[in-house]
Amino acid sequence: MDPRKNPYAPGAGTKPPALVGRDKQIESFDILLERLENGHVEQSMIVTGLRGVGKTVLLDVFREKAESRDWATVEWEVEKTAAFAPKMAAHVRRALLQIAPKAKWTDRVLRAASVLKSFTVTFNPDGAMTAGLDIDALAGSGDSGALPEDLTDLFVAIGEAAQDRGVGVVFLIDEIQFLRPADLEALIVALHKCTRRSLPITLVGAGLPQIPRLAGEAKSYSERLFRFPQIAELNASDARDALVLPARDLGVELEADAIAFMVSYTQGYPYFLQEYGRIVWDETSVSSVTLGDVRSVLPLVEAGLDESFFRVRVERTTELELRYLYAMAELGPQPHRASEVARRIQRTVEQAGPLRSRLIDKGLLYTPGHGYAAFTVPQFDRYMLRCHTELGELPPRGAATASA
Ligand SMILES: Nc1ncnc2c1ncn2[C@@H]1O[C@H](COP(=O)(O)OP(=O)(O)OP(=O)(O)O)[C@@H](O)[C@H]1O
Ligand SMILES: [Mg+2]
Repeated sequence: MDPRKNPYAPGAGTKPPALVGRDKQIESFDILLERLENGHVEQSMIVTGLRGVGKTVLLDVFREKAESRDWATVEWEVEKTAAFAPKMAAHVRRALLQIAPKAKWTDRVLRAASVLKSFTVTFNPDGAMTAGLDIDALAGSGDSGALPEDLTDLFVAIGEAAQDRGVGVVFLIDEIQFLRPADLEALIVALHKCTRRSLPITLVGAGLPQIPRLAGEAKSYSERLFRFPQIAELNASDARDALVLPARDLGVELEADAIAFMVSYTQGYPYFLQEYGRIVWDETSVSSVTLGDVRSVLPLVEAGLDESFFRVRVERTTELELRYLYAMAELGPQPHRASEVARRIQRTVEQAGPLRSRLIDKGLLYTPGHGYAAFTVPQFDRYMLRCHTELGELPPRGAATASA
């Protein structure tokens, strides 16, 4: 069919043609905003889920919702290498200008601007992003040099400014598991203060499944401050809709057994559904798609997924890390005891520990329970077994040092 009309949208954060199965989370977000607008206390939320389940897409829906209610929105994808405080200053500056154009700054907004100036000068004295902040820093606020305190001053000031203008501020933070523990802690402390003061400022994050544990380690009260809704693969009926609705809109029908095959192969994972749909569309010439059609393009789908989804995940792994992943894959898709994986690569648990930590750090694994490891990428076991067969044939190594 005409590739120019192909509706499917495999990609990172690309809006799907039919966004299905997320009504509950979207409604929770609406409730959160409305409660904060009315001065009620409400927990912030951090959406967790494996790779490719639609976390970034959901954050974008939240952004649209917030903007339609005139909230100031801050979109932020955490990169491990970027320094937190200067980034925060830049984002808050943008939020401030959304809360009110400069010509309409009230006293509260002016105060927030001077706290922001203090914060900016304190944490980024050289390349300070103070453009548009031609205002004096507020001495004694946001300038102690201790991040949790200064960020609290900044959040409270900006929350009060927003409240004064009858709006709110929402931080939409993606890949939040990559924040350094001290930065995550400061964020939690600052938000906590705003919650206690019922200020209309909140954080909605998205991240890998380890984030509730990381937040708990950063501050024990974080489980009262946040909810951690999980999103996962779509159920069979939603997965079916994700495939059928976009095609039907364009006059293309998928036969029932063709749909069943695609849903079963993809296990309802959103990224896989989009990729499968895209390839079926491009490779099929008739407007009624059969089981034979979807079966025959399966090799292309696998090649497409390897190329666009799986391979990038292992680009920065060492050989030893790959061996660890391969050993896990051989054991199957479910979580595995770290001790069992270590044994398989002929290492002690102590030797394999740093390896496992690095893979968690790189976002490839998470720990679903103490002493366990699981893939953050769905169907990663299949990929490893399909594309890294050479690792299965490596001669066993002695229990030498586990350096990589
Ligand atoms: N609810 C949904 N229904 C149908 N397709 C969806 C849905 N949510 C996301 N998708 C599709 O799934 C793909 C992955 O979405 P997204 O990038 O948001 O996932 P993610 O969880 O952020 O992944 P990662 O952890 O790799 O960043 C996109 O192609 C998107 O169009
Ligand atoms: Mg994402």
